[in-house]
Amino acid sequence: MKYFVLVGIIGIILAFSSCSHSEAKEYSALKNRLDSLESNAYTPGFGEFMNTIEIHHAKLWFAGTDQNWPLAQYELDEMKETFDDLQKYVKDRPEVKEIPMIDPALKDLGQAIESKDVNRFKPAYTTLTISCNSCHKATNHGFNVITIPTAPPVTDQKFMPAK
Ligand code: HEC
Repeated sequence: MKYFVLVGIIGIILAFSSCSHSEAKEYSALKNRLDSLESNAYTPGFGEFMNTIEIHHAKLWFAGTDQNWPLAQYELDEMKETFDDLQKYVKDRPEVKEIPMIDPALKDLGQAIESKDVNRFKPAYTTLTISCNSCHKATNHGFNVITIPTAPPVTDQKFMPAK
């Protein structure tokens, strides 16, 4: 009887130890998988986010001056989202800390769009553009000079409100 109890206890111990052994194996396989996902995942660089922001910035001018307010709002929202993504995904660049300097200009432009007033929109847009350049100067990228666009960035999109 004692013998059976002993065998039973040993069996239970073995079952547990093999279970924790296979768990450890599973854990290390999962960890390897995660490490490989992390090092192979594609994340756009700072400059790529900036290129996206540049396109929204340019489209925003034509949407606003053509008084297509829903499109202007849309472009502004996309630009804000791209700044948020930049903060979220670009971890290795100290310049990310400077992003909040653009917030007052974005807010002001949002109010101009909401008021549907092109005479408020234009100066707010100029202030935004100055803020882009202030950050470029502050981050040693003053050679990247942003201006008010003179031609639409694409020719396959209509900026006037649809009838
Ligand atoms: C946080 C500060 C900051 C703000 C705000 C900012 N930029 Fe930049 N921008 C940078 C930095 C830093 C670079 C250089 C990125 C790199 O190293 O690739 C850059 C680069 C660029 C480039 C060059 C991208 C390329 O590869 O040719 C453009 C265009 C640009 N920014 C547009 C804008 C526009 C438009 C705004 C405003 C709506 C803006 N930026 C606001 C910091 C900023």
